[in-house]
Amino acid sequence: MDLWKFFAIGHEDHVFCNPLSEPKFDELIAQLAIPYGGRILDIACGKAELLARAVARYDCLGVGVDLSPFCVAEARARFEEEGRASAIEVVEANGSEYEAPLGSFDVTCCIGATWIWGGFAPTLRALSAWTKPGGLVLVGEPFWRCAPSREYLEAAGHGRDSFGTHQGNVEAGLGLGLGFLYAMVSSEDDWDRYEGLQCNAAERYARENPSDPDVPELLARVREARDNYLRWGRRELGWAVYAFLCDPVRESAEADPGSLRRRSASGGPR
Ligand SMILES: C[S@@+](CC[C@H](N)C(=O)[O-])C[C@H]1O[C@@H](n2cnc3c(N)ncnc32)[C@H](O)[C@@H]1O
Repeated sequence: MDLWKFFAIGHEDHVFCNPLSEPKFDELIAQLAIPYGGRILDIACGKAELLARAVARYDCLGVGVDLSPFCVAEARARFEEEGRASAIEVVEANGSEYEAPLGSFDVTCCIGATWIWGGFAPTLRALSAWTKPGGLVLVGEPFWRCAPSREYLEAAGHGRDSFGTHQGNVEAGLGLGLGFLYAMVSSEDDWDRYEGLQCNAAERYARENPSDPDVPELLARVREARDNYLRWGRRELGWAVYAFLCDPVRESAEADPGSLRRRSASGGPR
């Protein structure tokens, strides 16, 4: 079954195609403080809802990049209809091949597609290169809530190293010299809604399109994912959107009081 068709059917009812709730996204967007006329980039933008809300709130310009022709067509049609196509450009491309001048965006995002660069830290590195000093980088990523069970890894096809811990994700950003601002974490309720909407949409599609030859595979995959989630994922896997600052005030002096004492004792600069 075509990957993009599978994704489009399962996410038909989602506004955001990831497990964070709409109110939490609104809270996140309220923190972005994008200057008037500023620019926000969202790689793997899905339906481009994050861009739609950020551009409406700040009167800024948005660029979304996604590889799914379904997502791109839907987002473009929406912004055309709303008369906002000149403010929000939607590019159909592989995020790894997207090119833009370094430091040309106030906010850069990748919510739920860090495989594009091979993981969380490489994603932070790629996004921060496009971000202005003092700008923000937002990355949505799963994390292990506890040591994952062998059964879950086998059933879902994850590796133990596919994801880090919540603390590890924060430290990955700090290790790259980014400032950690905050993380929005999905609750069980947020996750249940995200998973449930996929089941509901796929089951509805199957009822309404019984002659589609993809239906057996669609249902098998969605039901298997549902069972994996209920058996293991709900307890073992978390999800958060992490916000980092480019070019922060450095943490080292505050984080290591000993180094402050050493420097003042030696008369060095503070
Ligand atoms: C989990 S969804 C998240 C969508 C969106 N960020 C959101 O939160 O609503 C993952 C998205 O990544 C897109 N995608 C997958 N591989 C991609 C790639 N190599 N380049 C660009 N987009 C990609 C998919 O089409 C899908 O829209």
